[in-house]
Amino acid sequence: MQINILTLFPEMFSGVLSSSILGKAQEKGIVQFEVNNFRDFSESKHGTVDDTPYGGGGGMVLKPEPLFRAVEAVAGEKKPRVILMCPQGVPYNQKLAEELSMEEHLVFICGHYEGYDERIREHLVTDEISIGDYVLTGGELAAMVVIDSVVRLQPGALGNQTSAVEDSFSTGLLEYPHYTRPAEFRGWKVPDILLSGHHANIVNWRLKESLRRTYERRPDLLEKLELTTEMKKWLKEIEEEKKMQDKL
Ligand code: ADE
Repeated sequence: MQINILTLFPEMFSGVLSSSILGKAQEKGIVQFEVNNFRDFSESKHGTVDDTPYGGGGGMVLKPEPLFRAVEAVAGEKKPRVILMCPQGVPYNQKLAEELSMEEHLVFICGHYEGYDERIREHLVTDEISIGDYVLTGGELAAMVVIDSVVRLQPGALGNQTSAVEDSFSTGLLEYPHYTRPAEFRGWKVPDILLSGHHANIVNWRLKESLRRTYERRPDLLEKLELTTEMKKWLKEIEEEKKMQDKL
């Protein structure tokens, strides 16, 4: 997978792209990152990339030329997905991460402070993505979030492939609680069932605890799921258990 990033602040990416899973994925040849300053594609001597808005008003607007030239330079003959990071974009989620992870080439456009000339949105960009209902100073951090979540889905990027499949959101449920040694810490015990060695019971316990966590924290996710008869039964138990606890 090829990932190009167009930004006015390329230095923001160096630590993130070279560390941990992303750094290893690049070393293994699973992904290739290229970060470009789109100021280098400005047609003006001074490297101007923005200008005042037509119609007046405050703030600056990113000009179309530098970004069109930058995308055309990195895209070559191919037609990559060209992703504009902005708060007005579609809300990002795991499904979109999975979709983008199938692409061969992604180009991210990160603006800072300013708005974009509308022709960038209409004629250059294929996707507009928001990572949440809040405003960042620029698209860089948002692009890093998307890149991280897409690269970790590439085959071979994670040491343990099952970890991506069992993720929260891939299964549609939040993850069950995890424990490691010691079996008792400051008087707090690991649930007996996890020490029992009974594999089938452990699988069931984990699924039920995933359901409990999702029921308690993200009931909206449950509405989107097709539950098995067994899961429906557990959910009833969870509701009863919650009622009992609320009474205490
Ligand atoms: N740029 C500024 N805020 C953003 C957000 N919430 N998501 C994506 N890009 C952004």
